[in-house]
Amino acid sequence: MISNIGVRGYHYVEFYTGSAKMWAYWFCKAFSMQVTGYAGPETGVKDRVSYFLTLNNLKFIITSATKPSTYDVYGFIEKHGDGVKRWSLEVDDVSAAYHYAVEHFAIPVRSPRKIEDELGYVEEAAIKLYDDAEIVFFNKDNYTGIIKPGFRAPVSKITIETNPTNLQQVDHIVGNVRINEMNMWANYLNNALALETFIEFGPGDISTKYSALLSKVVRSPDKKIRNPINEPFEGMKKSQIEEYIDEYLGSGIQHVAITTENIIETIGNLRKNGVEFLPHPPDTYYEMLKEKGWEVTEDIEELKKHGILCDLEGTGYLLQLFTKPIGDRPTFFFEIIQRCKGAEGFGRGNFQALFESIERDQVLRGNFDRE
Ligand code: FE2
Repeated sequence: MISNIGVRGYHYVEFYTGSAKMWAYWFCKAFSMQVTGYAGPETGVKDRVSYFLTLNNLKFIITSATKPSTYDVYGFIEKHGDGVKRWSLEVDDVSAAYHYAVEHFAIPVRSPRKIEDELGYVEEAAIKLYDDAEIVFFNKDNYTGIIKPGFRAPVSKITIETNPTNLQQVDHIVGNVRINEMNMWANYLNNALALETFIEFGPGDISTKYSALLSKVVRSPDKKIRNPINEPFEGMKKSQIEEYIDEYLGSGIQHVAITTENIIETIGNLRKNGVEFLPHPPDTYYEMLKEKGWEVTEDIEELKKHGILCDLEGTGYLLQLFTKPIGDRPTFFFEIIQRCKGAEGFGRGNFQALFESIERDQVLRGNFDRE
């Protein structure tokens, strides 16, 4: 079992973008992250620049190409726009994890290799995910540098005034796939990473008056890795998943959820930093929340003020809010989530409010009616 090989949890998430410098600035300003490392021509990397951004246990690499021949970056952004190219799992043994995955039907992308410099070495290997994404197995136990060879301390040191978000770490990573692909990718992840199906939403479970989707959540038995997969389902209008597939030109990563220990403070500061969220649910949502009489520690009026959604999950509850798509295309976005009293779910009770909220934005984009 891969759990014996030792998946420690999510490590970095790498974005391919049109301009890494601009995106790095946005993450510093909007998410109050820090540029911890830099790779580019000044550090001996000729064809691309990458910024390594961190905050608590959150780790992003933002990459863009410096030459037209850097086709893995240009090809990706030409087709998909700015988005997540790969997410990594920190494992005890890269080679063992990779070989386990490939023996269990994972499609290989890069076989295990050591990347060395004078500070030691990291090990990496990668398998395919969705159309053009990757899952990386990563280990830096034998490396004393910032993240991996090629990266050095940032070349320019500037201070960006921002409000602290105190975002903590990746909670889950969600994929959108085409009709009939959800079961294929759920089986793929369950086999390759020894995950298990945790929740399944079938026809009619997640739908508004106009649109619908199917969803499966696969996760590791220790709950460190959670990967929901969404597929469109027939509806009167175009669902947000169909819109994603059309605009992204295929299947890929829809959102990354990030934890916080104080969502009211985090959302308040993210808003001050210029992050846009989905429209507030109607006031009746909060009236109903009060009537339910759940033991929610937070002040419901504060939740209402920030448009934060709340759902009861077993003995616990979760608080969540979704940003608008952060790039130019209506594709990738973030979720901010606070899990309280052991809540393990994904806000099923909020799906209705959430999707109606997304549909209001789809109408503005003219992407709600099928052509
Ligand atoms: Fe989510």
